[in-house]
Amino acid sequence: MNIVKTIAEVREQVKAWKKEGLSVGLVPTMGYLHEGHQSLIERAVKENDRVVVSDFVNPTQFAPNEDLESYPRDLERDAALCEKAGADLIFHPEPEEMYAKDACTFVDMRALTKNLCGKTRPIHFSGVCTVVSKLFLIVNPDRAYFGEKDAQQLAVIRRMVRDLNFDIEIVGCPIIREEDGLAKSSRNTYLTKELREAAPVLHKALEEGKQMVLEGERSAEKVRETIKKRIEAEPLAKIDYVEIVDFETIEPIETIKGSVLAAVAVYFGKTRLIDNFILTDI
Ligand code: PAF
Repeated sequence: MNIVKTIAEVREQVKAWKKEGLSVGLVPTMGYLHEGHQSLIERAVKENDRVVVSDFVNPTQFAPNEDLESYPRDLERDAALCEKAGADLIFHPEPEEMYAKDACTFVDMRALTKNLCGKTRPIHFSGVCTVVSKLFLIVNPDRAYFGEKDAQQLAVIRRMVRDLNFDIEIVGCPIIREEDGLAKSSRNTYLTKELREAAPVLHKALEEGKQMVLEGERSAEKVRETIKKRIEAEPLAKIDYVEIVDFETIEPIETIKGSVLAAVAVYFGKTRLIDNFILTDI
């Protein structure tokens, strides 16, 4: 497995693979990889001849008050995980390689990005869409893999691929959890022991809501209230949002039907964790 830092090196390698008729999968990441990323890489390895993992903490998706500087980084550990999972190439650029000093072209989405995480992180999805477009243009993959934990991101990327005619299959992969139900996240490492013990309330609350829907409840407000109350009962949890939206449009719904996303973002201390469930064909 190779680690390269320049766009030119990635292009040269992918061109050589494509010349041989090999298919290429891309797993975009911001590094500090965990079992969630590993599952994406393993899926990509199964479905493609060659797999590229991008490992880049993208500055344009962080607001000035967010955790860009402190976001955890460990390339050596990432490389070991990628190698074990069967990846062929890590693309690990410096920010200057990805963004010219006077870069002024961004990919903006006018719907899907205003609710949920877009409400409190107004520039976030512009940064995500821009960097993912750039990675698509650099790597030219046949398929790209994204986790369902960032469900709004997955919906946004699918819409961007449709709207901008990227000829790339987007594969969404299920959330990987700790034994107590907490969704795996690079940000879990910020949690103190006390906060870590409180955090599984997210999964428990969502499971309760999901069960209500599976048992026939169709009022989004009733399900939302149940999830919210369960989280509020945990004194260390401070809710950013609890929402039930249409999974395609990311617009709030009154009645649960079709493809539905129940999503939560909650602060534990300064750490903001997200989790969700998705139900389709309701
Ligand atoms: O999900 C992430 O880690 C990032 O948002 C992504 C897709 C790698 C873009 O920087």
